[in-house]
Amino acid sequence: MSRKLEGKVAVVTGASAGIGLGVAKAFANEGARVFITGRRRSELDRAVAEIGHGAVGIQGDAGKLADLDTLYATVKQKAGSIDVLALNAGFYEFMKFGEIIEEHFDKTYNANVKGLLFGFQKALPLLSKGSSVIFTGSIAGSIGMPDMSVYSSTKAAVRSLARSLILDTKEFGIRINVLSPGHTLTPGLQLLIPEAAHAGIVDTIPLSRLGSPEDLGKAAVFLASEDSAYITGVELDVDGGVSQY
Ligand SMILES: NC(=O)c1ccc[n+]([C@@H]2O[C@H](COP(=O)([O-])OP(=O)(O)OC[C@H]3O[C@@H](n4cnc5c(N)ncnc54)[C@H](OP(=O)(O)O)[C@@H]3O)[C@@H](O)[C@H]2O)c1
Repeated sequence: MSRKLEGKVAVVTGASAGIGLGVAKAFANEGARVFITGRRRSELDRAVAEIGHGAVGIQGDAGKLADLDTLYATVKQKAGSIDVLALNAGFYEFMKFGEIIEEHFDKTYNANVKGLLFGFQKALPLLSKGSSVIFTGSIAGSIGMPDMSVYSSTKAAVRSLARSLILDTKEFGIRINVLSPGHTLTPGLQLLIPEAAHAGIVDTIPLSRLGSPEDLGKAAVFLASEDSAYITGVELDVDGGVSQY
């Protein structure tokens, strides 16, 4: 059976663990040459070994513009162009309204909005005609969540950016879609929500389980491949139905 991303070059930010790693593995298994980013060298090296298929790890912070320059300079030198760009790196933590501090606001907006916008803009000269850009959003961008107001608003911004940028990039012939996970079992979620509370969340999910990085990987392959050739500007919720009622 032919692979859906054979010969394609894919960049996935924030991919040494969690959803990004699931997406990078799925892309590599479909034939893509994958470049991944992460801030910690040891995690990055471990992920590169796990992905295999000639994956390359480029250390850097997706919220730092100089690191983005290094990322794309390296990809340009090693691969020439990009066919699939998955801007996945993001930051989340709980913070009660009334106690929100500036550092929380800046850290969340920096990673989730600033990093994503410049991560896309700086990649533009490298994106091939017909390429697919995938922003990781969140169901939190569409529904209210207690103690997550700042984070939720960043993901609403991500969703909004996709709507405008499909117009602003019309002459480039690229597609931009938002992949929005629900509760997905990742190291980040495990830090945020103790295991004992997972059953209570599962009760609220129509498909009665948490999502996995593999679930997100499969959906990302759809958005990255020709299977979604006439789809741009949409948000694909991969959430077991939890935001749909
Ligand atoms: N898990 C969920 O339930 C869920 C739900 C909705 C949306 N999301 C979104 O999905 C994305 C990934 O979440 P996750 O749960 O998979 O996170 P995670 O388990 O914390 O994994 C994040 C990965 O990205 C890297 N990373 C984090 N910040 C980075 C940065 N600024 N620059 C480069 N790499 C960075 C981390 O490595 P280093 O720390 O070494 O950099 C790690 O490899 C985020 O955008 C998040 O908002 C997650």
